[in-house]
Amino acid sequence: MQDILIHVADGVLTLTISRVDRKNAFTAAMYTAMADGLDQAQNDPAIRVAVIQGDITVFSAGNDIGDFLSNAPTSQDAPVFRFLRTITTFPKPLVAAVCGPAVGIGTTLLFHCDLVYAGDNAAFSLPFVNLGLCPEAGSSLLVPQMMGYHRAAEALLLGEPFMAEAALEVGLVNRIVPPTEANAMAQAQARKLAAKPMASLIETKRLMKKGQMDQVLAQSAEEAQSFGRMLHAPAAKEAFAAFMEKRKPDFSKV
Ligand code: COA
Repeated sequence: MQDILIHVADGVLTLTISRVDRKNAFTAAMYTAMADGLDQAQNDPAIRVAVIQGDITVFSAGNDIGDFLSNAPTSQDAPVFRFLRTITTFPKPLVAAVCGPAVGIGTTLLFHCDLVYAGDNAAFSLPFVNLGLCPEAGSSLLVPQMMGYHRAAEALLLGEPFMAEAALEVGLVNRIVPPTEANAMAQAQARKLAAKPMASLIETKRLMKKGQMDQVLAQSAEEAQSFGRMLHAPAAKEAFAAFMEKRKPDFSKV
Protein backbone atom coordinates (compact mmCIF):
# COMPACT_ATOMS: atom_id res chain seq x y z
CA MET A 1 0.00 0.00 0.00
CA GLN A 2 2.01 2.95 -1.27
CA ASP A 3 -0.03 5.59 0.60
CA ILE A 4 0.91 4.11 3.98
CA LEU A 5 4.55 3.11 4.27
CA ILE A 6 5.43 0.59 6.98
CA HIS A 7 8.99 0.36 8.22
CA VAL A 8 10.34 -1.70 11.12
CA ALA A 9 13.72 -0.98 12.72
CA ASP A 10 15.16 -1.37 16.23
CA GLY A 11 11.85 -2.56 17.71
CA VAL A 12 9.93 0.44 16.31
CA LEU A 13 7.21 0.08 13.67
CA THR A 14 6.69 3.33 11.77
CA LEU A 15 3.57 4.13 9.76
CA THR A 16 4.24 7.01 7.36
CA ILE A 17 1.20 8.64 5.76
CA SER A 18 2.43 9.22 2.24
CA ARG A 19 -0.18 10.67 -0.07
CA VAL A 20 1.10 14.20 -0.20
CA ASP A 21 -0.56 15.13 -3.53
CA ARG A 22 -3.94 14.72 -1.74
CA LYS A 23 -2.62 16.31 1.45
CA ASN A 24 -2.42 12.85 3.07
CA ALA A 25 -6.22 12.53 3.12
CA PHE A 26 -7.20 9.04 4.31
CA THR A 27 -9.03 6.57 2.10
CA ALA A 28 -10.75 3.42 3.40
CA ALA A 29 -7.78 1.39 2.11
CA MET A 30 -5.39 3.59 4.09
CA TYR A 31 -7.37 3.07 7.31
CA THR A 32 -7.18 -0.68 6.72
CA ALA A 33 -3.41 -0.47 6.13
CA MET A 34 -2.96 1.58 9.33
CA ALA A 35 -5.09 -0.82 11.39
CA ASP A 36 -3.23 -3.84 9.92
CA GLY A 37 0.11 -2.17 10.72
CA LEU A 38 -0.92 -1.52 14.32
CA ASP A 39 -2.22 -5.11 14.66
CA GLN A 40 1.17 -6.34 13.43
CA ALA A 41 2.90 -4.08 15.97
CA GLN A 42 0.63 -5.34 18.75
CA ASN A 43 1.10 -9.03 17.95
CA ASP A 44 4.82 -9.15 17.14
CA PRO A 45 6.84 -9.32 20.37
CA ALA A 46 9.86 -7.92 18.51
CA ILE A 47 7.96 -4.65 17.94
CA ARG A 48 7.89 -2.58 21.12
CA VAL A 49 6.70 0.86 19.99
CA ALA A 50 4.76 2.31 17.04
CA VAL A 51 5.17 5.71 15.42
CA ILE A 52 2.73 7.57 13.14
CA GLN A 53 4.20 10.34 11.04
CA GLY A 54 3.25 12.35 7.99
CA ASP A 55 5.12 14.67 5.69
CA ILE A 56 7.03 17.77 6.76
CA THR A 57 4.37 19.90 4.99
CA VAL A 58 1.20 18.05 6.00
CA PHE A 59 0.18 15.45 8.56
CA SER A 60 -3.29 14.71 7.14
CA ALA A 61 -6.26 16.54 5.60
CA GLY A 62 -8.52 14.00 7.34
CA ASN A 63 -10.98 11.77 5.57
CA ASP A 64 -10.71 11.77 1.79
CA ILE A 65 -14.00 13.39 0.93
CA GLY A 66 -14.36 11.76 -2.49
CA ASP A 67 -13.58 8.32 -1.08
CA PHE A 68 -16.03 9.00 1.76
CA LEU A 69 -18.77 9.54 -0.78
CA SER A 70 -18.07 6.23 -2.55
CA ASN A 71 -17.19 4.19 0.60
CA ALA A 72 -19.46 5.79 3.21
CA PRO A 73 -18.61 4.32 6.64
CA THR A 74 -22.12 3.44 7.73
CA SER A 75 -21.38 0.41 9.93
CA GLN A 76 -19.12 -0.06 12.96
CA ASP A 77 -17.05 -2.48 10.80
CA ALA A 78 -16.10 0.28 8.34
CA PRO A 79 -12.29 0.63 8.00
CA VAL A 80 -12.25 4.08 9.65
CA PHE A 81 -14.02 2.79 12.76
CA ARG A 82 -11.87 -0.34 12.88
CA PHE A 83 -8.77 1.90 12.74
CA LEU A 84 -10.15 4.09 15.54
CA ARG A 85 -10.88 1.10 17.79
CA THR A 86 -7.40 -0.27 17.08
CA ILE A 87 -5.65 2.98 17.97
CA THR A 88 -7.82 3.50 21.07
CA THR A 89 -6.96 0.09 22.49
CA PHE A 90 -3.36 -0.19 21.21
CA PRO A 91 -1.48 -1.52 24.25
CA LYS A 92 2.10 -0.54 23.39
CA PRO A 93 3.49 3.00 23.32
CA LEU A 94 2.38 5.05 20.34
CA VAL A 95 4.29 8.17 19.29
CA ALA A 96 3.27 10.73 16.64
CA ALA A 97 5.08 13.45 14.71
CA VAL A 98 2.81 16.15 13.25
CA CYS A 99 3.76 18.89 10.81
CA GLY A 100 1.44 21.15 8.81
CA PRO A 101 -2.35 20.69 8.72
CA ALA A 102 -3.87 17.96 10.90
CA VAL A 103 -7.57 18.05 9.98
CA GLY A 104 -10.41 16.01 11.51
CA ILE A 105 -9.15 12.53 12.20
CA GLY A 106 -5.65 13.94 11.62
CA THR A 107 -6.14 15.65 14.99
CA THR A 108 -8.46 13.20 16.76
CA LEU A 109 -6.12 10.23 16.27
CA LEU A 110 -3.54 12.16 18.32
CA PHE A 111 -5.75 11.88 21.41
CA HIS A 112 -4.89 8.17 21.35
CA CYS A 113 -1.14 8.61 20.99
CA ASP A 114 1.05 8.63 24.10
CA LEU A 115 3.62 11.17 22.91
CA VAL A 116 3.10 13.82 20.22
CA TYR A 117 5.86 15.99 18.71
CA ALA A 118 4.75 18.89 16.55
CA GLY A 119 6.54 20.95 13.96
CA ASP A 120 6.05 24.68 14.53
CA ASN A 121 3.97 24.68 11.31
CA ALA A 122 1.39 22.25 12.77
CA ALA A 123 -2.24 23.45 12.49
CA PHE A 124 -4.94 21.38 14.14
CA SER A 125 -8.62 21.55 13.21
CA LEU A 126 -11.84 19.70 13.95
CA PRO A 127 -14.23 20.97 11.23
CA PHE A 128 -16.92 18.30 11.72
CA VAL A 129 -19.77 20.82 12.13
CA ASN A 130 -18.61 22.69 9.02
CA LEU A 131 -19.05 19.40 7.14
CA GLY A 132 -22.50 18.71 8.56
CA LEU A 133 -21.05 15.92 10.69
CA CYS A 134 -20.23 15.30 14.36
CA PRO A 135 -16.98 14.43 16.16
CA GLU A 136 -15.40 10.95 16.08
CA ALA A 137 -12.67 9.01 17.89
CA GLY A 138 -14.16 9.88 21.28
CA SER A 139 -13.21 13.50 20.67
CA SER A 140 -16.57 14.86 21.90
CA LEU A 141 -15.49 13.50 25.30
CA LEU A 142 -11.72 13.96 25.11
CA VAL A 143 -11.51 17.49 23.63
CA PRO A 144 -13.59 19.17 26.39
CA GLN A 145 -11.67 17.17 28.98
CA MET A 146 -8.33 18.27 27.63
CA MET A 147 -9.09 21.89 26.72
CA GLY A 148 -11.98 22.84 29.00
CA TYR A 149 -15.49 23.21 27.65
CA HIS A 150 -15.29 26.70 26.15
CA ARG A 151 -12.09 26.17 24.19
CA ALA A 152 -13.51 22.83 23.05
CA ALA A 153 -16.63 24.63 21.83
CA GLU A 154 -14.47 26.99 19.78
CA ALA A 155 -12.63 24.03 18.26
CA LEU A 156 -15.66 21.73 17.77
CA LEU A 157 -18.63 24.06 17.24
CA LEU A 158 -16.89 26.80 15.28
CA GLY A 159 -14.32 24.41 13.81
CA GLU A 160 -11.61 27.03 14.29
CA PRO A 161 -8.05 25.79 13.72
CA PHE A 162 -5.50 26.11 16.49
CA MET A 163 -1.76 26.20 16.09
CA ALA A 164 1.09 24.25 17.70
CA GLU A 165 1.52 26.72 20.60
CA ALA A 166 -2.15 26.34 21.63
CA ALA A 167 -1.89 22.56 21.30
CA LEU A 168 1.17 22.61 23.57
CA GLU A 169 -0.64 24.78 26.09
CA VAL A 170 -3.60 22.39 26.39
CA GLY A 171 -1.35 19.33 26.47
CA LEU A 172 -2.20 17.82 23.08
CA VAL A 173 1.48 17.92 22.08
CA ASN A 174 4.58 17.29 24.16
CA ARG A 175 7.01 19.57 22.39
CA ILE A 176 7.28 21.90 19.41
CA VAL A 177 10.32 21.55 17.18
CA PRO A 178 11.33 22.83 13.72
CA PRO A 179 9.38 20.80 11.11
CA THR A 180 12.61 19.29 9.79
CA GLU A 181 13.20 17.76 13.24
CA ALA A 182 9.74 16.44 14.16
CA ASN A 183 10.02 12.95 12.66
CA ALA A 184 13.57 12.50 14.02
CA MET A 185 12.38 13.61 17.46
CA ALA A 186 9.52 11.09 17.44
CA GLN A 187 11.91 8.35 16.29
CA ALA A 188 14.44 9.19 19.01
CA GLN A 189 11.77 9.11 21.73
CA ALA A 190 10.37 5.84 20.32
CA ARG A 191 13.82 4.26 20.50
CA LYS A 192 14.18 5.40 24.11
CA LEU A 193 10.85 3.70 24.88
CA ALA A 194 11.85 0.57 22.94
CA ALA A 195 14.86 0.14 25.24
CA LYS A 196 12.67 0.05 28.37
CA PRO A 197 11.10 -3.09 29.92
CA MET A 198 8.10 -3.95 27.73
CA ALA A 199 5.85 -5.38 30.44
CA SER A 200 6.28 -2.21 32.54
CA LEU A 201 5.43 0.02 29.59
CA ILE A 202 2.31 -1.97 28.72
CA GLU A 203 1.11 -2.20 32.33
CA THR A 204 1.74 1.49 32.99
CA LYS A 205 -0.16 2.52 29.85
CA ARG A 206 -3.00 0.13 30.73
CA LEU A 207 -3.26 1.55 34.25
CA MET A 208 -3.22 5.17 32.98
CA LYS A 209 -5.94 4.46 30.43
CA LYS A 210 -8.17 1.90 32.15
CA GLY A 211 -10.29 4.37 34.13
CA GLN A 212 -11.70 5.81 30.94
CA MET A 213 -11.28 3.14 28.29
CA ASP A 214 -14.85 1.81 28.40
CA GLN A 215 -16.26 5.34 28.36
CA VAL A 216 -14.09 6.35 25.38
CA LEU A 217 -15.08 3.22 23.43
CA ALA A 218 -18.78 3.78 24.21
CA GLN A 219 -18.56 7.46 23.20
CA SER A 220 -16.75 6.51 19.95
CA ALA A 221 -19.40 3.92 19.13
CA GLU A 222 -22.19 6.46 19.69
CA GLU A 223 -20.32 9.07 17.63
CA ALA A 224 -19.84 6.51 14.85
CA GLN A 225 -23.57 5.84 14.75
CA SER A 226 -24.42 9.54 14.51
CA PHE A 227 -21.60 10.17 12.04
CA GLY A 228 -22.84 7.38 9.73
CA ARG A 229 -26.38 8.74 9.85
CA MET A 230 -25.35 12.37 9.34
CA LEU A 231 -23.25 11.50 6.30
CA HIS A 232 -26.49 10.96 4.37
CA ALA A 233 -28.28 14.06 5.67
CA PRO A 234 -28.66 17.23 3.54
CA ALA A 235 -26.04 19.27 5.46
CA ALA A 236 -23.20 16.82 4.77
CA LYS A 237 -24.34 16.37 1.16
CA GLU A 238 -24.16 20.15 0.69
CA ALA A 239 -20.76 20.39 2.44
CA PHE A 240 -19.25 17.60 0.34
CA ALA A 241 -20.72 18.92 -2.91
CA ALA A 242 -19.30 22.37 -2.07
CA PHE A 243 -15.87 20.85 -1.39
CA MET A 244 -15.86 18.98 -4.71
CA GLU A 245 -17.09 22.07 -6.57
CA LYS A 246 -14.58 24.30 -4.71
CA ARG A 247 -17.24 26.69 -3.42
CA LYS A 248 -18.51 27.79 -0.01
CA PRO A 249 -21.31 25.56 1.35
CA ASP A 250 -24.78 27.07 1.75
CA PHE A 251 -26.36 25.77 4.95
CA SER A 252 -29.26 28.24 4.90
CA LYS A 253 -31.77 25.49 4.04
CA VAL A 254 -30.48 22.67 6.27
N1 COA B 1 -10.33 14.89 0.66
C1 COA B 1 -10.12 14.84 -0.66
N2 COA B 1 -9.23 15.65 -1.32
C2 COA B 1 -8.56 16.52 -0.57
C3 COA B 1 -8.74 16.64 0.82
C4 COA B 1 -9.68 15.76 1.44
N3 COA B 1 -9.90 15.78 2.76
N4 COA B 1 -7.93 17.61 1.31
C5 COA B 1 -7.28 18.11 0.24
N5 COA B 1 -7.64 17.46 -0.88
C6 COA B 1 -7.19 17.71 -2.26
C7 COA B 1 -7.70 19.07 -2.72
O1 COA B 1 -9.03 18.95 -3.24
C8 COA B 1 -6.70 19.42 -3.80
O2 COA B 1 -7.03 18.72 -4.95
P1 COA B 1 -6.78 19.37 -6.42
O3 COA B 1 -5.28 19.45 -6.53
O4 COA B 1 -7.38 18.36 -7.34
O5 COA B 1 -7.45 20.71 -6.42
C9 COA B 1 -5.39 18.81 -3.24
O6 COA B 1 -5.76 17.84 -2.27
C10 COA B 1 -4.54 19.84 -2.54
O7 COA B 1 -5.32 20.49 -1.54
P2 COA B 1 -5.41 22.08 -1.36
O8 COA B 1 -6.67 22.39 -0.63
O9 COA B 1 -5.17 22.76 -2.66
O10 COA B 1 -4.14 22.33 -0.40
P3 COA B 1 -3.89 23.52 0.60
O11 COA B 1 -2.46 23.41 1.01
O12 COA B 1 -4.37 24.82 0.04
O13 COA B 1 -4.82 23.21 1.89
C11 COA B 1 -5.79 21.78 3.57
C12 COA B 1 -4.57 22.05 2.67
C13 COA B 1 -5.56 20.46 4.28
C14 COA B 1 -5.90 22.90 4.63
C15 COA B 1 -7.07 21.75 2.72
O14 COA B 1 -6.84 20.90 1.63
C16 COA B 1 -8.32 21.30 3.41
O15 COA B 1 -8.89 22.02 4.22
N6 COA B 1 -8.81 20.08 3.06
C17 COA B 1 -10.09 19.58 3.47
C18 COA B 1 -10.03 19.13 4.90
C19 COA B 1 -11.31 18.50 5.36
O16 COA B 1 -12.35 19.11 5.38
N7 COA B 1 -11.21 17.21 5.73
C20 COA B 1 -12.31 16.40 6.10
C21 COA B 1 -12.29 16.19 7.57
S1 COA B 1 -13.56 15.03 8.10
